[in-house]
Amino acid sequence: MKKLFLSGAIAMAAAALVTVAAAQDSTSIGSEGLQTEPMELVIDDEKLMTRVGAPADSPLSEIISGWEFRNPGTRKMELDDFDNPAFIWVDQGEALWSTVDGTEGKSCETCHDDASESMRGVRASYPKWDEAKGKPQAMEHQVNECRTERMGAEAWKWESDQMLGMTAYVGLQSRGMPVEVQTDGPMQEWWQRGKDLYYMRVGQLDMSCANCHEDHYGEMIRADRLSQGQINGFPTYRLKWQKIGSVHRRFKGCMENIRAVAYKRGSDEFTSLELYLASRGQGLSVETPAVRQ
Ligand code: HEC
Ligand code: HEC
Repeated sequence: MKKLFLSGAIAMAAAALVTVAAAQDSTSIGSEGLQTEPMELVIDDEKLMTRVGAPADSPLSEIISGWEFRNPGTRKMELDDFDNPAFIWVDQGEALWSTVDGTEGKSCETCHDDASESMRGVRASYPKWDEAKGKPQAMEHQVNECRTERMGAEAWKWESDQMLGMTAYVGLQSRGMPVEVQTDGPMQEWWQRGKDLYYMRVGQLDMSCANCHEDHYGEMIRADRLSQGQINGFPTYRLKWQKIGSVHRRFKGCMENIRAVAYKRGSDEFTSLELYLASRGQGLSVETPAVRQ
């Protein structure tokens, strides 16, 4: 019975993808399906860049934020922080910033002072090379490094409310700034690894990230409008989750949807994929915390 259900689901998914493939022949990808109701992403009088020109070596002709692909109702929720449900977590993060924890009797504030100054621009540059570790760090890794090595506190779980609150709060300090990650030097090898993963076909549906987010963005896949899978809004409040979630959670969900065995949150695989995706979205404004369907 279970097996039957599974193959039924695969057949359904495959059928949906065939529809996508057929539609591709007659539509110009990219413009199709974008905003039906013109709107700009302006928050607190600041205009965020949701569409930017792509560099010559980009596989995309234009770099477009996921916000542009959502319906007007979802887009509007991001325009005002009072309507943005992610701010429940931002507020928690702000409170944790000055909460003493661990054997050293310190809080984040003890060393980093005012987050609006010390953390400004930080989100835009992550994942970032860590010389001591000899590998790139996602922001979650960095926060836990400060907790365990500098505060004598326990690491937070990747998807815990504390970690999500803190990464949302730190990320908010970069809102509106252009994404700009390092891809050269020691990062080159990790970037390449992320790129390989992005184009690698996996799972029972034998698909790559690119099959959906590069080849078919703007088109419908079942009830969803495919975006470019950009990550400039993470952590993001997702209506379907009824909460905020990390970018690695999203990767995991997409892999599971194509019936692949997902990598672990915080794994080298997902960190390199995050690095590669950040580089594909260079120039887009940080939207943290964004709202998606
Ligand atoms: C004892 C001092 C200390 C405490 C307490 C501390 N940090 Fe740090 N933090 C540092 C230092 C030093 C660095 C720079 C490390 C490096 O460059 O490798 C850093 C770096 C960071 C960065 C990266 C900044 C960048 O420009 O890339 C983030 C984010 C961060 N800390 C967040 C936190 C958070 C959140 C807390 C509280 C949970 C915290 N830190 C607590 C000392 C501290
Ligand atoms: C079968 C199609 C499909 C594949 C393959 C797929 N995704 Fe997705 N993905 C979706 C759909 C549908 C959504 C929700 C609508 C949207 O934003 O595209 C989504 C959303 C996302 C988002 C959120 C975008 C935002 O604006 O918040 C990211 C990031 C993402 N995917 C990354 C990936 C990565 C990385 C891979 C490969 C490991 C992948 N996806 C593979 C269908 C797919």
